[in-house]
Amino acid sequence: MSIEDEVSRRRTFAIISHPDAGKTTLTEKLLLYGGAIHVAGQVSARKRQRQVTSDWMALERERGISITSTVLQFPYAGCVINLLDTPGHQDFGEDTYRTLLAADSAVMLIDAAKGVEPQTKKLFAICRERKIPLFTFMNKLDRPSRDPLELLDELESVLGIGAYPMNWPLGSGEHFRGVYDRRMRRLHLFERSAHGATRAAVEVTDARDERLRTMVDDAEYARFRDALDLLDGAGAAFDREAMLRGETTPVFFGSAVTNFGVQLFLDDFVQTAPAPGSQRVADGEAVRAEDERFTGFVFKIQANMDPRHRDRIAFVRVCSGRFERDLVVRNARTGNSVRLARAMRLFADERESLESAYAGDVVGLANPGVFAIGDTLYDGARVEFPAIPAFAPEHFAAIRSLDAASYKAFGKGIAQLREEGAVQVFEPWRAGAYEPILGVVGELQFEVAKYRLESEYGVRTAIAAQPYTLAMRVDAERAALDAAHLPSNARLVRDWEGRAVALFESEWSLKLAREWNPAFAFVPFGTDGVAV
Ligand code: G4P
Repeated sequence: MSIEDEVSRRRTFAIISHPDAGKTTLTEKLLLYGGAIHVAGQVSARKRQRQVTSDWMALERERGISITSTVLQFPYAGCVINLLDTPGHQDFGEDTYRTLLAADSAVMLIDAAKGVEPQTKKLFAICRERKIPLFTFMNKLDRPSRDPLELLDELESVLGIGAYPMNWPLGSGEHFRGVYDRRMRRLHLFERSAHGATRAAVEVTDARDERLRTMVDDAEYARFRDALDLLDGAGAAFDREAMLRGETTPVFFGSAVTNFGVQLFLDDFVQTAPAPGSQRVADGEAVRAEDERFTGFVFKIQANMDPRHRDRIAFVRVCSGRFERDLVVRNARTGNSVRLARAMRLFADERESLESAYAGDVVGLANPGVFAIGDTLYDGARVEFPAIPAFAPEHFAAIRSLDAASYKAFGKGIAQLREEGAVQVFEPWRAGAYEPILGVVGELQFEVAKYRLESEYGVRTAIAAQPYTLAMRVDAERAALDAAHLPSNARLVRDWEGRAVALFESEWSLKLAREWNPAFAFVPFGTDGVAV
């Protein structure tokens, strides 16, 4: 198969949702359609374990929080689907952000009884900023749900995205009877089954079919018909181009747990979702997915995923060309050549050696210390994809080793967590004893850092929260920084690259610092204004 053919059949996406909307369940059902039955079981087993004990430590032990990220690749209808799994907990939004950079589209999963929830909004903001085409799956229709028109309206009013229902539910909860496919003009009948068996399709000519009328009570039927009249009256057909621009989202109704509406969704998804396209590179050029030469970027680094291996895996999203084992590429950041020898497919909890991959695929590379998040790997002429921005940390804590003997392991562990992007690490501006200050976006990250230092590096630590809430990069001459005059509750530190960063307790404190140091530029961390 040519590179063009391989690229055109790739669909690489992530699911975004508020916790409990049904992401694990939907993932599992999608895998069933891909024929990966044993892995589907694995996904739910992992989730079950999480549910038994909801404390973070058990979650982490189960590799449930920060390391859930994996890639589920399965074939469907002639396509190769890459589902990029992301951590479920909101404190790991930065991880999700990086994973979304590797996706060509996203599925926004919504609990139809709840509608748009806080985490949906935050993750949506990332998709919007990155202009990622978005599909919407309204889940749990087998339970009493909100009025579907109201749900659509919420997408438009709260998220500001146009919504185009591809199908429409008849009833909800106890009275849920199925979904009406607006394009094919047929109703898919819902059968209540405990473990979501198969779907049954009933052909009907249009929404006025007499059989529909008898399935629900008069009021329900009237609501259904009125809604369809309203939608049809609105005219315009689904506009795929508008979806690709991120202006509108196709909406599907269903019930993941009963496996209802999932195949309808998937059939549409493989046709409508974009194949890998061009990726912008830093100098404004673009790399085409079909280009012969290999390019890719590292969007995630994860150490010690498997306690039996204790290694460090870089997740590389292929952007063009054909990846082959033992390919020799260059790393744009370091300029060094590297042989991609130990390449693997990361599938749920399994790893398989990987021979080839194309744009849209994710390759796991085990090359200790060679890669950092955001690295561009390329063959041929030099290219560099845009840097992956670090989030502005909002919580800070000093961390120290409780055991002098494990000092070296402590430094190693902290460095590793920083490389993974699991925490940001700062040190006092004036060099002295090693006293790292951790900065995170979600407080749970502190707990995970502490836990991992102990379990993976054998270092017990004490963490002391610091009152800062705001970090700004400081642009100024070295000598001026040494003589900086900051408010007493602010602090000057350096990041791992030695760049100056000031930590503040409040905007007010930052304002004072600006007044007192007019020659300094205080620059926010760069995530293009997206706060997660
Ligand atoms: P998450 O990964 O987004 O956090 O959600 P998850 O799939 O774990 O689903 C959260 C809960 O919602 C689970 O129930 C799951 O069974 C249920 N659920 C998912 N999809 C549907 C659906 O379409 N309809 C209904 N009625 N429920 C759904 P739980 O009680 O927490 O767990 P379990 O005992 O069912 O495993």
